[in-house]
Amino acid sequence: MKATSIANSNTAFIKYWGKYNEELIIPMNSNMSLTVDSQNTVTTVEFSGDYKEDEVILNSSRAEGKEKERVTRHLDLVRGLAKIRDRAKVVSKNNFPTAAGLASSASGFAALTVAACAAAGLNLDKKRLSIIARQGSGSSCRSIYGGYVQWLKGKTSDDSYAVQIADENYFDIRDIAVVVSTGERAISTREGMRLSIKTSPIYQARLGVVEGMLEKVKKAILARDFRTLGSTAEADAILMHSVMMTTEPHLFYWEPKTLELLKKIMKWRSEGLECYFTVDTGPNVHIFCLPDKEKEILGRLKEEGFRNFFASKPGGGAELLKKHLF
Ligand code: DP6
Repeated sequence: MKATSIANSNTAFIKYWGKYNEELIIPMNSNMSLTVDSQNTVTTVEFSGDYKEDEVILNSSRAEGKEKERVTRHLDLVRGLAKIRDRAKVVSKNNFPTAAGLASSASGFAALTVAACAAAGLNLDKKRLSIIARQGSGSSCRSIYGGYVQWLKGKTSDDSYAVQIADENYFDIRDIAVVVSTGERAISTREGMRLSIKTSPIYQARLGVVEGMLEKVKKAILARDFRTLGSTAEADAILMHSVMMTTEPHLFYWEPKTLELLKKIMKWRSEGLECYFTVDTGPNVHIFCLPDKEKEILGRLKEEGFRNFFASKPGGGAELLKKHLF
């Protein structure tokens, strides 16, 4: 009744921003990401009749309140499927500082899903695992797979899941996550999405074009066409942040340093150093480039005073490990 899993984080080229069904976490639009190899979560789950209640330890500290509730709710989903009632002990560790403000829910809920399902004795295929992970945190359904992954929006819980478009060895690119600021975000991703659908006058406009952009990205991945992939990802990041900024209250996740770096990236590109950016719910910037440009970009980042970054290659899907955390 004990199992351990490792899952990598992912960075979206075409973003998920808004839920069609909040309870089940079904997205308004299909979306696409790259699973990355430098940021991961390892999670051990043990179900036992000896535990009186669920105990959750995240990065060496005991989770309480909302954080713990989210994990317990996810364990309930797995318990329901496995028809067990045992409480669980969960120990989870990120290999990157949580305070850096880089995504942890994607790798976190993917690892929790794979470990909890195995610990509960469920033998599920990746599609089922993706459907379960999705209900913990949407983007985590993509981290079940390695490489280039599409989340098919679907309309019901059973047809909203991720599929692999190309594996991690198909097209070698780099994703450099630059930590610009480590402050807490004022409005959470969940609340931000809800507000954007209700109030942004351009929310529907993005929905009208985003599936077309996704098709373009998918073709670009399969053709290993980095220019189309990067420029379309960058365009969708700007579009999503335009939706955020036109939400009431305004969701300005960028800091002055964010814009400074985005302008640098555009300048480097105009000088012939090909790279593109994306930004999630926060001030940090991801830079996409081909492997032969990585060194030059890391050098320029240091020159410009950006010293906190994680360079990733395409990473593999979530898997079980033999060694447990407790
Ligand atoms: C901006 O998956 O963290 O990073 O489903 O509410 O847990 P919940 O949201 P989450 O949202 C990720 C939003 C994003 C875009 C993306 O990764 O596609």
